[in-house]
Amino acid sequence: MIYLTRRERFNAAHRLFKKEWSDEKNFEVFGKCSNPNWHGHNYQLFVTIKGEINPETGFVVNLKVLSKIVREKVIEKIDHKNLNLDVDFMKGKITSAENIAIAIWQEIEEDINKLSCELHCVKVVETENNSIEYYG
Ligand code: NI
Repeated sequence: MIYLTRRERFNAAHRLFKKEWSDEKNFEVFGKCSNPNWHGHNYQLFVTIKGEINPETGFVVNLKVLSKIVREKVIEKIDHKNLNLDVDFMKGKITSAENIAIAIWQEIEEDINKLSCELHCVKVVETENNSIEYYG
């Protein structure tokens, strides 16, 4: 079994909050990420797939095909967008890195598993110090 990881990047705005809470309570729980007038992150997305090497090509999967799926299903929908307002697959969710990783997994899983490999991990890096890994 071989593991292969493709990185993509996106910039997006968000706010972590619950609308039934006051700004003070939101700040207490979510910190600076609850700023009422939004803020942005330069996110990195790492999609890891696993599979066997195709002896004809030496590849597990064609990286161009993998990248195209991630770009079409995810990056085009979220890059330079507001995660709370603009992104269909984040509607009604708290836009934490955890929820972003799970939603991205759900967006790409079906298409990736149609290739000769399996989705293994979706990693979302929100800041230099914080990242999330989701294994399905
Ligand atoms: Ni934030």
